Amino acid sequence: MNIKNFMNIERSLSASHTENNKDLIKILSGKLKRLGREKHYFNTELQHYWPAEFFGLHKSSLFNNCNEHQRIKILTECSNHLLREAYFIEKSGLAYCAKMVLLADTTEVAQTYSLIGSDEATHLQWITPYVTQEYRTQPKGEFLIYLTELIQQGDSSCLMYLLQVILEGWGLHHYKDLSQHCQNTHLKKLLADIVRDEALHHKTGTILFKPEKLSSAQRNFIQDSLASFLEMVRVGPLAVVSHVEFVLGGLNNAEKILLIEQLSGPKTAAIKLKILKQLMSIPGCEKFIDHLNAKKMFTPYSSAQCV
Ligand SMILES: [Fe+2]
Ligand SMILES: [Fe+2]
Repeated sequence: MNIKNFMNIERSLSASHTENNKDLIKILSGKLKRLGREKHYFNTELQHYWPAEFFGLHKSSLFNNCNEHQRIKILTECSNHLLREAYFIEKSGLAYCAKMVLLADTTEVAQTYSLIGSDEATHLQWITPYVTQEYRTQPKGEFLIYLTELIQQGDSSCLMYLLQVILEGWGLHHYKDLSQHCQNTHLKKLLADIVRDEALHHKTGTILFKPEKLSSAQRNFIQDSLASFLEMVRVGPLAVVSHVEFVLGGLNNAEKILLIEQLSGPKTAAIKLKILKQLMSIPGCEKFIDHLNAKKMFTPYSSAQCV
């Protein structure tokens, strides 16, 4: 079956999300209510849900020299980036599960992915109020483009490893971190609830993935995809740098290098790379690690290399 002929992940991610069909919204929230999973959005004055410490910005001389208005603007940009990214992660989770249901070899596998898809639809519904309508149709940034291509191109075996074992495992750490440091009680709880579901999604991947059955073409696909992902992590907090630059105007290279250094960019990247290595290290996947180690892919770039 060539699924590429009838499934376009990019199209699914750019689908409109206006919430204009009130009858459909009633069905959606009614269903979540019956499942005991309905959440109410409490609008607050706070625009920046995570503090400067979460991004390492409290150690930045550039940030500390900003006025109050600029500081809030930078933190709001950083928060919005995280929430928009989470929105598209959940939206792509939906598309991923739809693909896996159609590719399932057994009925139980199809049922499992359908239920995981229901979790992703729920998470998406929870995150949606935090993302304004204009940001719900165009996934931006290197990671989301990577994720879209991965879901589009990967077959079920490769995706079980890449999407569920690695990225859902990674998502677990990410959401846990977001929840722990979030300054809004409602969002904090919502993120903690997502973590609980994602743990099961990750575990399902570790149960279903059979590395011994991979062909050499599948192994190559996995290897290349892992390398591309690690490249994005090795460069550290470039997204934070771009938000600072967006608010303050163009930064020169020396300012960028100092900012990355003060954000502890390489140190944070090293911690993330270590977590990823642990996630990749499941029996039967040792050769992926050896290959990536040989290419020094678990070593972060220096601040100067990042700019
Ligand atoms: Fe999710
Ligand atoms: Fe998930």
